[in-house]
Amino acid sequence: MRKPIIAGNWKMNNTIAETKALVKDLIPLVKDAKCDVVICTPYTDLAAAVEATQGTNIKVGAENVHWAEKGAFTGEISAKMLVELGVEYVIIGHSERRQYFGETDETVNARMKAALAAGLKPIVCVGETLEERESGKTEEVVTRQTVAAFKDIDKDELDNIVIAYEPVWAIGTGKTATAEDANDTIKVIRDTMAKLYCPKCAEDRVRIQYGGSMNPKNASELMAMPEIDGGLIGGASLKAEDFSKVVNF
Ligand code: PGA
Repeated sequence: MRKPIIAGNWKMNNTIAETKALVKDLIPLVKDAKCDVVICTPYTDLAAAVEATQGTNIKVGAENVHWAEKGAFTGEISAKMLVELGVEYVIIGHSERRQYFGETDETVNARMKAALAAGLKPIVCVGETLEERESGKTEEVVTRQTVAAFKDIDKDELDNIVIAYEPVWAIGTGKTATAEDANDTIKVIRDTMAKLYCPKCAEDRVRIQYGGSMNPKNASELMAMPEIDGGLIGGASLKAEDFSKVVNF
């Protein structure tokens, strides 16, 4: 019932020339995908990515967005600026932003509101660190992050939001959560959404991805789990062939 969504998170990789080449290779490989296909690129690649994907089934996303409409925020980019470029999605609250750039539950929520107000579709990330997992706090952490991210966000917006569950210890490490563990934690997130909104909303309208070393080898096993509706793919999204294999899980 929930349409799967596979999104690439390029992080700080690819120049404009590299973007054009990668998208060109990717288009024929994913054209028959049964899921939604998104590539999230650095700001400087967005215009080229939008142009290169015109008329294809690939959608483009940014990797962050500021919460203010405009103003004295040197170096930041607003939601309106992204919409003007033809960008449709935006990653919010990625663990690298939380770890290295001072992202908090409050700023995640502020960015969510700004993105939705401008018509962007957030891919909002939650996930526990290794220390939190080892001290048995996984459920508590993802629940707290989910509740905070959705503060004052209307039920009508649920179709426009994707949640990505990304255990921090699995990102870029080659360590994947087992399909069962990922499924269990995503169930905790879905139950949280059921409490925040309604059980049917959470079941029918909330898409939750897994992210963290997802690749061509483990994608089909992860995607076979009932709670997992897609993937947020870092490293494996940088090669057309690898990404297409995940997309065509
Ligand atoms: P990875 O990154 O696939 O390289 O682990 C995932 C992410 O950070 O979104």
